[in-house]
Amino acid sequence: MEALKGIRILDMTHVQAGPTCTQLLAWLGADVIKLEPPQGDATRGQLRDVPNADSLYFTMLNCNKRSIVVNMKSAEGKTVFVDLLRKCDIVMENFGPGVLDRLGFTWEKVHSLNPRVVMGSIKGFGSSGPYADFKAYENVAQAMGGAMSTTGLPEGPPFVTGAQIGDTGTGLHLAIGLLAALHQRDRTGEGQYVEVAMMDGVMNLCRVKFRDHQRLFRGPLSEYSVETAQGMGAVPRAGNDSGGGQLGNAIHCKPHGPNDWLYVVVQEAVWEGLANRIGGDALAKDPRFAKIADRRKNQDEMWKLITEFAKNYTKREFMAILNPLDVPCGPIMSTEDLANDEHVRGRDMWVELDHPQRGKWFNVGMPIKLSASPAVIKRSPTLGEHTEEVLREVLRYDDNKIKSLQQAGAFSAPPKKAA
Ligand SMILES: CC(C)(COP(=O)(O)OP(=O)(O)OC[C@H]1O[C@@H](n2cnc3c(N)ncnc32)[C@H](O)[C@@H]1OP(=O)(O)O)[C@@H](O)C(=O)NCCC(=O)NCCS
Repeated sequence: MEALKGIRILDMTHVQAGPTCTQLLAWLGADVIKLEPPQGDATRGQLRDVPNADSLYFTMLNCNKRSIVVNMKSAEGKTVFVDLLRKCDIVMENFGPGVLDRLGFTWEKVHSLNPRVVMGSIKGFGSSGPYADFKAYENVAQAMGGAMSTTGLPEGPPFVTGAQIGDTGTGLHLAIGLLAALHQRDRTGEGQYVEVAMMDGVMNLCRVKFRDHQRLFRGPLSEYSVETAQGMGAVPRAGNDSGGGQLGNAIHCKPHGPNDWLYVVVQEAVWEGLANRIGGDALAKDPRFAKIADRRKNQDEMWKLITEFAKNYTKREFMAILNPLDVPCGPIMSTEDLANDEHVRGRDMWVELDHPQRGKWFNVGMPIKLSASPAVIKRSPTLGEHTEEVLREVLRYDDNKIKSLQQAGAFSAPPKKAA
């Protein structure tokens, strides 16, 4: 049986941050009803690769959900929303600031309509504080949560990371909050409001940088490959430094293309074996690298020696040399490498699906593996595919009720007025 079987979620989320969360909960077995405006989630049409088909942006974030179209700006649409709200355990949204309030559904109102419902909300900066009125997208959150200022090289511009820590990271945080709130609701009978701000989520993911921020009050950061000094204030960008107590770096390998790199961690315990392999006894006994403190001081020299050795090997060959020495390392995997990787396929992390509009396509699989209830991944819904099904099965509406709501515009945009 699926872990969240019996939990119904009214999902008003859009774009990436919210849908990440609801897709995950759907993969855990919740019945996720995605409530969309008549024109659908904007991502259905964004970055389209197949004409007239839902984009991969949409399909990759909305699997295992049902789609119902409801015009929340019509009185009848609001009635349908309220009926659904009463049948759900969780309601979720990641609209811009104040949108749901303008539609007439503050948390207080939602709570009064269904005291058991848990409400999940993602905002760029939360509902309080000087930034509360701002909208946010991924890179805005990366900029404001500390990720960008600490990514890149000191002499270059700040960089965003390809991992969507602002959007997907926030969705994951929200999933944890919702499951905790559900657990509490089961004991108390009362739902609660669960809010995650994207900026807060990114700060949480940058925790080790705030560790270093405070260490700078007491002295330089000896493991950093770039210059640091006591009292310098902000944590500098430090390229590919490991970020932990052990030294690490990406080493360029043969044939020296953009992804021909191996990330190598020179863990204290493995130095002697590594040094012996790349520079023989002389390097293993070289006092410049004898202890971790020496290697920290002379790390530029150490990386040069490792790079010199690696230049004759591909990243996989170099990895094969380091694995028996127990050196923690990993090749920089391109999207192409990953899509074709046997290990990835074997773990169901690159899953082929079929879709009525676009045919075969792939989704990244479910990274959380439950032994008794593994995820079964199903394609995303087309716009409004389950409107009737949900109205009949969940709300028990009959033909007449559905027809009159349709005629009143509950499920469609009002016709454009003639100019
Ligand atoms: C992502 C974001 C910037 C997009 O901004 P946007 O495209 O202007 O969308 P908003 O959420 O502000 O507004 C949605 C509009 O659609 C309307 N709408 C939403 N669902 C509707 C429905 N079912 N029926 C009718 N109208 C609907 C809302 O009422 C709102 O209209 P309004 O502006 O007249 O009040 C914004 O939603 C945001 O900041 N969200 C919070 C942070 C976030 O999650 N960002 C990450 C995105 S990956």
